[in-house]
Amino acid sequence: MGKRDFLSMESVSAPELTVLLDRASEMKAKRVPTNVLDGKTVAMIFEKPSTRTRVSFDVAISELGATSLPLSGTELQLGRGETIEDTGRVLSRYVHGMVVRTFGQDRLERLAASSTVPVVNALSDLEHPCQALADLLTIRERRGSFQGCTMTYVGDGNNVAHSLLLAGAIAGMRVIVATPPGYEPIPQIVKRAQQIAAETGGAAEVTTDAPTAVRDADVVYTDVWASMGQEQEAAERKLIFAPYQVNPVLLARAKPDAMVLHCLPAHRGEEIAAEVLDGPQSAVWDQAENRLHVQKALLEWLLEENA
Ligand code: CP
Ligand code: NVA
Repeated sequence: MGKRDFLSMESVSAPELTVLLDRASEMKAKRVPTNVLDGKTVAMIFEKPSTRTRVSFDVAISELGATSLPLSGTELQLGRGETIEDTGRVLSRYVHGMVVRTFGQDRLERLAASSTVPVVNALSDLEHPCQALADLLTIRERRGSFQGCTMTYVGDGNNVAHSLLLAGAIAGMRVIVATPPGYEPIPQIVKRAQQIAAETGGAAEVTTDAPTAVRDADVVYTDVWASMGQEQEAAERKLIFAPYQVNPVLLARAKPDAMVLHCLPAHRGEEIAAEVLDGPQSAVWDQAENRLHVQKALLEWLLEENA
């Protein structure tokens, strides 16, 4: 069988998602180092900063018995103009997998197409699928299942929102994304999420009305207003997004036991009020921890299949 990449949440089917989450839960319950990927090396290429993704992948790789090779975009010849395709061809001769954080999704697709080893999207401008896996695990741990679950994402229609729309659809949830006008998720992703949701019993909706979208939600999710690469828009976005802050007033419209998620890093007082992020409904530290467990399950699945 050919190699599998994980470039988008769409890279996994509903049954595969269940297998991955089950394995992640099992690995979380019994966190012991294994040698399942003994002798393998995974390159981690980061063209943007990272705390959680970088450290959790590094630890995941080590707990699976493999070696991680952290590389920044600038220290590779890639930063001096070597093509993505040549980088993919060459690295494939050395390593057994690549975890890549970059800008355009096309960079990941070109790398995956020229590589003979699995490529994992560790965040692109379009998607953040490893985050969405951890989000689903966190929801399933606390709610037991995705059935009848409504998740409302409030804020920017960005990479995190895109992967959540797809992940929620695959899991059979109802996902509502509430953004200021002009900051909606891209229509192709919304359409794809709606197509998937039609088969799984979920739903994918987009609105500009955050208070209505949050009403009776089981999960309230937010992310930064200016993503990496949008720093020059930060001041303008602060004004535009101000009515979309997840604060106690907005959260009070959700179910009383609704959980609050944020992929982190958070800006208290901007997209989320400090008392919400640090309050009793927040599940963000479990959510961050779950990155490790889902990524262990993901790497085992992708790299063992290619053994
Ligand atoms: N949530 C997330 O991906 O965080 P980092 O940018 O720190 O990796
Ligand atoms: N949307 C954010 C997520 C950071 C984990 C960004 O791309 O910067």
